[in-house]
Amino acid sequence: MKKIALITSGGDAPGMNACVRAVVKTCLGKGIVPIGYCDGYSGMIENRFISLVSDDVVNIIQRGGTILGTARNDEFRTEDGRAKAIKNLKVEGINGLVCIGGDGSFRGARALSSEMDIPVIAIPGTIDNDIFGTDRTIGFDTAMNTVVDAVDKIKDTAGSHHRIFLVEVMGRDAGFIALETAIASGAASVLIPEERSNIKLLAEDLKSQNKRRSNSIVIVAEGDDAGGVKEIYEKLLPLMDGYTLRYSILGHVQRGGRPSAFDRILATRMGVFSVELLLEGKSDVMIGSNGDALHTLPIEDAVNAAAMPRLENLQVIKALKTVR
Ligand code: F6P
Repeated sequence: MKKIALITSGGDAPGMNACVRAVVKTCLGKGIVPIGYCDGYSGMIENRFISLVSDDVVNIIQRGGTILGTARNDEFRTEDGRAKAIKNLKVEGINGLVCIGGDGSFRGARALSSEMDIPVIAIPGTIDNDIFGTDRTIGFDTAMNTVVDAVDKIKDTAGSHHRIFLVEVMGRDAGFIALETAIASGAASVLIPEERSNIKLLAEDLKSQNKRRSNSIVIVAEGDDAGGVKEIYEKLLPLMDGYTLRYSILGHVQRGGRPSAFDRILATRMGVFSVELLLEGKSDVMIGSNGDALHTLPIEDAVNAAAMPRLENLQVIKALKTVR
């Protein structure tokens, strides 16, 4: 194995740089040339890449974003687009590919893998944590901490004014960020895409809780079936006579910032493991974490199950309702 290509793809996630650093350092330590394609699959199609050296990854473990750039590329969803990328990889003499990204990137990696004989390893990097086969994705922990920090601040003003706040967090199709940050910030309720939301019940629930509390936080995942947070606010307002409501959208602040120690460690371990797997001749697999252990499973399994709600969600909701 002489050359390993690397991309970061889809929405950036804190810890992607730590993973790039780990892949590059592992490659260099084993005499392999690491090639970084710019802006995910776009760089592969357009043949934009850099041959990475040790200096490129100095001082990046603590940086959010990705030094390689990232993108969501529509052309790569087509066979013609992928054919251009495969041709470029072959001309460059790439022997293995490491793809760090979320569910869309995994679908790209799976398609690519079935259309070329270059081995592919996928690493879960997304703040959403919505990849089957891993209990944590790179970036999730940092994003959760960003949300909890913001909600703590919102709680100060909510408490001072005796207001109820709806706080929208990211998660277009998944409620992982919403669920876990709801627990960590002592929220009164949480709305997630995996559960049907009932605004009337939410109003009753909030009113019953507000007999003993002067302020409440409701965490709303952006992909909730009742609509965006503004829409939910407008539906809730007429049902909450006598209460003052506000809403706040945290948005892309959740994707940036210094990665937490947890994300740096997870990213480093997964990055090192990806190169080892390629050297062992593995292909078409993703790396997942289960507690402290890393494992592999076919990328296809993750792709097919990515959108399924998980049992843990329901357990988390139970915990939230018990301690709020
Ligand atoms: O990276 C995943 C994610 O953060 C989703 O939670 C969110 O819906 C989406 O990306 C936003 O993507 P974009 O930055 O392309 O608008």
